[in-house]
Amino acid sequence: MYGFLLGREFKISVAEIISAFPNATTIYQSKEILVLENISKEEILSKITRIGGTIKVTTIEETTKTIQEALEEKAPYEGKFRYGLNLFWERVSMKEILMKVKKHLRSKDISARFTNKDFKNLNAAQIIGENLVKRESDFNFIFTKEVTYFGQTIWIQDINSYGERDYSKDRDMQIGMLPPKLSQMMINLSEGSTIYDPFVGLWTILIESLYMGNTKVYGSDLNEKMVDTSLHNCKEVAKKLDMTADIQTEKLNAKFIHESQYFDKWVDAIVTEGYLGEIMTKKNIAVDRIEKQRESLEKIYSAFFENLSKINYSGNIVISFPFWEIRWKYFYFEEIYKILAKYCEVQSFFPDDYQISATKSGSLLYKRDSQLVWREIFKLKMK
Ligand SMILES: C[S@@+](CC[C@H](N)C(=O)[O-])C[C@H]1O[C@@H](n2cnc3c(N)ncnc32)[C@H](O)[C@@H]1O
Repeated sequence: MYGFLLGREFKISVAEIISAFPNATTIYQSKEILVLENISKEEILSKITRIGGTIKVTTIEETTKTIQEALEEKAPYEGKFRYGLNLFWERVSMKEILMKVKKHLRSKDISARFTNKDFKNLNAAQIIGENLVKRESDFNFIFTKEVTYFGQTIWIQDINSYGERDYSKDRDMQIGMLPPKLSQMMINLSEGSTIYDPFVGLWTILIESLYMGNTKVYGSDLNEKMVDTSLHNCKEVAKKLDMTADIQTEKLNAKFIHESQYFDKWVDAIVTEGYLGEIMTKKNIAVDRIEKQRESLEKIYSAFFENLSKINYSGNIVISFPFWEIRWKYFYFEEIYKILAKYCEVQSFFPDDYQISATKSGSLLYKRDSQLVWREIFKLKMK
């Protein structure tokens, strides 16, 4: 068994993992961790760098040992035992447990030092900094109502590389960029390998698709500058990755998606953030402005789906639409539900009877605290 530590929007993370490992069985799932069986370490390690919503992966076995006994067993025969300890839902304080383990190991003549800071679970930066995956000494205890699981971390997300991609300097942050991790999750959820993004914007989906090893990436945007810079930047990334890729972008209004010269039956998935409407700030966001945005977005998306329907597009579509928040009140893009009901079949993210479910409309929500516009993500097929 293996445990996947989930990202902040845990439902999207779970949906992504179960779509990447369709043959695995879910044993346990909570907001923080997903435990799978019928899956091998090789399979995990071969796919995991393409997965955006998992923070770390740990081996998992049921245990009846105490934490100090389990760690004693893992201590090396010689040299100092530097380890990290992570507890999930233990009510006893981390400080108390770390002290108990320290005392126990000392009584067994084991020279040991925990690397936890401030008596908290380790974050990715600390695990990487202390090289604990290679040392095989980042340990995880997961306490559920029924059993206790114990395991050691076998993979940790490369946060530095995401960081670089998120704040790449030649991007205009005014437009609002899709976080690279979310782009990866959406690409994985689409199950596609030839991706088309009809609202290329800051080219995040295309770039992430290249990073994930897809050699055919296509896109369009209404804004010519976006079209040119996205092409240039994607080519640069392909060069950096030493990859031969077919990258094409063109200026096109997404309303007329059927007229794209690159969008043909070979594109197996549309993955896009879609236009979010005007960027609003805390100072100028208002209900009437949101309503106006919804009206103009409705026009774009009704034509977009109507034209996709005309050409009988049969691939998957993973798309995010905006919704807004003004002082804890949510304003959903309700017009889109009617458009989707007319042209699309909403695909489910989870099997029937799964422990968690999507929203009533079949979507998953992605919220970033600092933003006023949030995202509602759908997986669709045309009717
Ligand atoms: C929110 S951005 C997409 C950002 C992109 N996902 C990223 O992270 O880089 C939306 C983009 O949609 C484009 N756009 C707006 N209306 C459009 C339309 N009708 N057809 C095509 N593109 C449109 C804008 O020019 C903008 O670049």
